[in-house]
Amino acid sequence: MADTLTIVDNRTGKKYELPIQNGTIRAMDLRQIKTGADDFGLMTYDPAFMNTANCRSSITYIDGDKGILLYRGYPIEQLAEESDYLETAYLILFGELPTASQQQNWVRDITYHTMLHENIKKFMEGFRYDAHPMGIFLSTVGALSTLNPDAKAIFDKASRLRQTQRLIAKVPSIAAYAYRHSIGRPYNSPDNDLSFTGNFLNMLFKMTELKYQPNPVLARALDVLFILHADHEQNCSTTTMRTIGSSHVDPYSALAGAAAALYGPLHGGANEAVLRMLNEIGSVSKVPEFIKKVKSGEGSNRLMGFGHRVYKSYDPRAKVIKRIADLVFAVTGKNPLLDIALELERIALQDEYFVTRKLYPNVDFYSGLIYQAMGFPVEMFPVLFAIPRTAGWIAQWEEMLLDPEQKIARPRQIYTGAAQRDYVPRDKRA
Ligand code: CMC
Repeated sequence: MADTLTIVDNRTGKKYELPIQNGTIRAMDLRQIKTGADDFGLMTYDPAFMNTANCRSSITYIDGDKGILLYRGYPIEQLAEESDYLETAYLILFGELPTASQQQNWVRDITYHTMLHENIKKFMEGFRYDAHPMGIFLSTVGALSTLNPDAKAIFDKASRLRQTQRLIAKVPSIAAYAYRHSIGRPYNSPDNDLSFTGNFLNMLFKMTELKYQPNPVLARALDVLFILHADHEQNCSTTTMRTIGSSHVDPYSALAGAAAALYGPLHGGANEAVLRMLNEIGSVSKVPEFIKKVKSGEGSNRLMGFGHRVYKSYDPRAKVIKRIADLVFAVTGKNPLLDIALELERIALQDEYFVTRKLYPNVDFYSGLIYQAMGFPVEMFPVLFAIPRTAGWIAQWEEMLLDPEQKIARPRQIYTGAAQRDYVPRDKRA
């Protein structure tokens, strides 16, 4: 059996044979299919890239039907159990798990870069008191490019590594300062004695105590949540990172754009929508009524935190999150909305509407409940997503830069506007 596709163009009767590789044909191979010398050649039309592979990638693998998620070949469940965020970030960025000494150096390098330049603090102070922390976050990440002009040397390996270390280290500091600014409290400096997530909690929540002691269960839960969010192949924000990066701009500017894509409610904002939905339902007894409304399409209600473009079975990240929720609630007290969420899941998983459409809980169904129980306001949820996703964004950006097949991203269009016409002076216009 030949790995080719035979196409007959019924406009011309001509036959073409295109190679199939990795279950894919090359869109550029279609260009030879023409009706005549003046014809540009056949293109594909694929709004939202529903069926277009934009790159080759060796970072993250997803099997949506089986509910499998692998980073560099390692199952997400094993990483969530055994690894920590910084080690997983190293794996995603450099392709292999670090040896003991590589891990030690990596942790040291990240720890040394956690502080923010005083100018950046002043920059952040310029935001209004009620500015959304995600707006502050993405603007500040973009502003970092002005302080690190060496970041423009994107084909210098040492420079790329320096910016990578700076970004991984500084995004929690920016996130924490954005939060402190939005609640009108003074910024807390990083504490290098603490773990990555322990220090993040310190920068967020330290008050007047001399030394902040993070709760180890909460620090570990945050670590696991960061592992689960570190990469997810070619989603909207990652595609944005690759697209902006393909113009060869510095990584801070590209990452600001990726964070902007994540800010949207269809991407990084769904866990906030889950909390709003649970509050609206209000009590376990109202769950059947709500499910009925969702099924009837009344009020365009959707069961938020359910369904996924890729996963057509239980999102493997949701399974892990559900487990750690119990550990977190043992410390913080149970989020009163949990019972409503559990009842929603129980009913939906046996309801024909959800079963036939393969709608299962996704990563956002339980994560918001945990963040809320840990004391985060909902505005911080997308920021909590952006911190760990920084590892994935940078890894995907670097992979794109070093891929000889990649060029500046520049899709085609089907023009549907007016044909060429002559300019009409203003006094002659109807
Ligand atoms: N509640 C009720 N019905 C749903 C839902 C839902 N959450 N999701 C999909 N459906 C129905 C939809 O109405 C359609 O039914 P029908 O065939 O009768 O018209 C069918 O299932 C297929 O839906 P779709 O909209 O074509 O699926 P999609 O792949 O375009 O959408 C989705 C995926 C995630 C946008 C969607 O499932 C959804 O809106 N979910 C709720 C929002 C949410 O939880 N988003 C977080 C996604 S995970 C975050 C991440 O990984 O970054």
